[in-house]
Amino acid sequence: MSEAAGKMWSGRFREPLDKDFEQWQRSFPFDVRLLSQELAASKAHARMIAAAGILDPHELTTMLTGLAGVLATASSGDAAMVASAPNAEDIHHFVELELTKAIGNLALKLHTGRSRNEQIATDMRLFVREAIDRTTDGLRAWAGALIDLADTAGDAVMPSYTHLQRAEPVLVAHWLLAYVSMAERDIARLKDARKRMNYCPLGSGAVAGATLPLDRSIAAQELGFDGPTRNSMDATSDRDFLVEFTQCLATMGLHFSRFAEEITLYSTAEFGFVELPEAFSTGSSAMPQKKNPDFTELLRGKSARLIGAATSLSMLMKGLPLAYNKDLQEGQEQVFEAADTADGILKILPAFTRALKFNFDRMKTAATTGYLNAMAAATYLSNKGVPFRKAHEIIGNAVRLGLESGRELNHLKLEELRGLSDTFGEDFFDAITLEATLDCHDVVGGTARARVAEALAAAKVKLGENT
Ligand code: ARG
Repeated sequence: MSEAAGKMWSGRFREPLDKDFEQWQRSFPFDVRLLSQELAASKAHARMIAAAGILDPHELTTMLTGLAGVLATASSGDAAMVASAPNAEDIHHFVELELTKAIGNLALKLHTGRSRNEQIATDMRLFVREAIDRTTDGLRAWAGALIDLADTAGDAVMPSYTHLQRAEPVLVAHWLLAYVSMAERDIARLKDARKRMNYCPLGSGAVAGATLPLDRSIAAQELGFDGPTRNSMDATSDRDFLVEFTQCLATMGLHFSRFAEEITLYSTAEFGFVELPEAFSTGSSAMPQKKNPDFTELLRGKSARLIGAATSLSMLMKGLPLAYNKDLQEGQEQVFEAADTADGILKILPAFTRALKFNFDRMKTAATTGYLNAMAAATYLSNKGVPFRKAHEIIGNAVRLGLESGRELNHLKLEELRGLSDTFGEDFFDAITLEATLDCHDVVGGTARARVAEALAAAKVKLGENT
């Protein structure tokens, strides 16, 4: 008997496999984590071939019970499963070996009318679907934490920045809601990808379609898919759903990295806007005074992995001829890694966000010094009929006057202002208060207090709908 015996494809082979190659080509060390998906897909396939008359009702029951028994071995852990099955090439082979141990030769009938090509495509779809659901749950939890912070912030203000230079005052809630908008888009993207991938490859065979007259809707329905895939060549080699999933995570990672960067900056002594929660920070082994923003630094760094996975998958698919090619096995670990990275982040990010303590006084001081009301001041003049270009110049002169004498715009005297333009009146000072500076941005999406209150309410409704 050849050494290849015991493999799923031994019949044709007479020469033993090179030992190193044999180990190297195996996917079981990593696809072991697809056990629950493989078993679910196998049960669905068993029902489908039973309906086609390949298994009698008794055999089907034995098969399903046997598969349920294999699931119990999962409790031993992935490493133990891999160690326990030195001959298993991949998760499909492992399940066949275990099922044979449990129910004997009947197990070998399970492979009737199917191929590992459709199995791995199905297992990965099931894996990604679950990962999408976990990720959207995590994103909702983060959005919920941001919304609660925004609620607590009330009318607290901070500077907004363009070019990382102070620009105009905004509500802290407005800034927080910017990240809620990003999370909403991430959720929408993932849900959209989920819809597109939710079709069942089972019944596609190796490439050309099953060789049995299977009712493919049986498996699709049992596994919660919206229907069978429509082309067997595409279904066995399509990995768009892996590309899309990792691209969604990469974009989410970009958002996380921006949040991470802002919190890292805002927690410095130079900004002093936010106090890092001790539970998520570490000290320095050298400098006793330090509290380092490890969580946000790692969060900023983790986006690299997510982008890496998306890039690897695109590279993997580029130029790949139809249909299944073994290259596709290389995509699995990228997806597992990206899903684990997202899970790891989202387990912590909502709690970290909730634990942030803002120094609203520092934020307000930063928002009320440095002429952040200059835009509101120019708007005052333009509301009085001065062309904006001219108003801009007049306020620029007023700012210079202030800079030269160490005063903010609201401390300039009316006579001094009138020296620059006779359009200035007493009401100028009311137009450049902090409140007026916020409330002049009275448009949908603006930082006027009433608009932010509306946006906050809308974000809560949207979060509720998303749940
Ligand atoms: N381990 C393989 C993979 O992950 C399963 C499919 C194998 N198919 C084959 N024709 N060798 O892609």
